[in-house]
Amino acid sequence: MGRPTTIHVCSACGHQTPRWAGRCPGCGEWNTLIEEPVAGPSGAGTRRRAGGAAVAPIALGDVAIDDQERLSTGIGELDNVLGGGIVPGSLILIGGAPGIGKSTLTTMALANLLAAGRRTLYVSAEESAAQIRLRAERLSGDAALRIPVIAQTDLHTVLATLEQERPEVCVIDSVQTLHSSDLSGAAGSVAQVREVAGEIMRVAKARGIAVLLVGHVTKDGALAGPRVLEHMVDCVLAFEGERERTYRTLRALKNRFGPAHEAGVFEMRDHGLVEVLDASARFVGEATRAPGSVVLCAMEGSRPLLVEVQALVCRSEIVPPRRVVSGLDRNRVALVLAVLGRHAGIGLGSADVFVNVVGGVRVDDPGSDLAVALAVASAVRRTELRGSAGRPLACFGELGLTGELRSVAHGDRRLAEAQKFGLTPVVEPESHATLRSAFAAALGGDSRSAAIAA
Ligand code: TYD
Ligand code: MG
Repeated sequence: MGRPTTIHVCSACGHQTPRWAGRCPGCGEWNTLIEEPVAGPSGAGTRRRAGGAAVAPIALGDVAIDDQERLSTGIGELDNVLGGGIVPGSLILIGGAPGIGKSTLTTMALANLLAAGRRTLYVSAEESAAQIRLRAERLSGDAALRIPVIAQTDLHTVLATLEQERPEVCVIDSVQTLHSSDLSGAAGSVAQVREVAGEIMRVAKARGIAVLLVGHVTKDGALAGPRVLEHMVDCVLAFEGERERTYRTLRALKNRFGPAHEAGVFEMRDHGLVEVLDASARFVGEATRAPGSVVLCAMEGSRPLLVEVQALVCRSEIVPPRRVVSGLDRNRVALVLAVLGRHAGIGLGSADVFVNVVGGVRVDDPGSDLAVALAVASAVRRTELRGSAGRPLACFGELGLTGELRSVAHGDRRLAEAQKFGLTPVVEPESHATLRSAFAAALGGDSRSAAIAA
């Protein structure tokens, strides 16, 4: 046997051990050992460490800025989320659940870039070239069929192709399915993902290739793979929604070249993804106004968006009762239910609670608390929440743990959006200091008497 080519290093204490173990022999922490290539003359993953020469620092004001033109993807919402298009040479990670439309979105972007005369490359380590072609055939326009593709899972083959083809924009689909032969371990393991992303970044930065890196997410929605992946890239975009529904939100979680938290809404149609520019109008138009329904004035990035939040409460047959949440953060919903129990007399300890943002959009906004509280209270009371003139009731606001309503960012823009659709007055923190006061306005009567009606 020759020298081992990899070693396992503890990410907590730095302890090194030749063999992998669940628990670090050095510090006793679990799951901290990460496989690394051995540094040294005969290791397969040898990294040369030359003696560095000193360089002279320069004042920031003297640093030259090359104001490179951004590359438009031809998809307005994607450009907007990126802060105005793709920065040449940048690394963009797009995470999302299987089937959400990552491959479709990136294929459409490449097709538009190609049609605009850019050099592109699509690297698929997930699907065969024939499968990619079938997708491209569904998309409108014929540019998608002209995209150069390779279906390869070997990292070194991909790197060599990048060096040779020198595309301006390249899609890697996905970072979890490429495999480096320098490391043992299956594709998608922490060490593999880090190696793949690191090597691609090295070539991309050296050659000025902008890379759209597709990434998988785990069951709870976090990007699969090492956290360091998010630090390495320039932008992290999350593509969210439910596979069975048509609406999807694309959100910037990190952006070195533009505002983070910018978001856009898409709809999956037969011929690809379509931007939804009148999302508020659609959701308000479809709002049911039945008990358990309320309109939330949410913010998707810098833009206001009106969505319908629905709740259903019924007696539970199981212990603990169900809490089924879609489109919202389940921890925030749990908090709202706790506040309802303590400060509004609505105990839900033996009730199943379902909360849903209609249409499959995802709202990531603390201002959604009041909407959840009102929808649940309305469902419990079986009373409609109705705004003026028979319109649906609109609201927003964050709930504090003591039952107070807290103001949230961009209150004026939220109000203006509601006004645009005739939803006034809006129940919100400026006009109501506490949850109780908001309840009195929306439900009438004494909210303390609300008991579980189911
Ligand atoms: P896909 O882009 O393959 O998702 P991901 O790469 O995130 O796994 O697309 C997912 C779904 O979208 C798939 O079930 C088929 C559907 N689809 C359409 O409805 N219309 C279309 O035009 C295309 C290309 C796909
Ligand atoms: Mg895909």
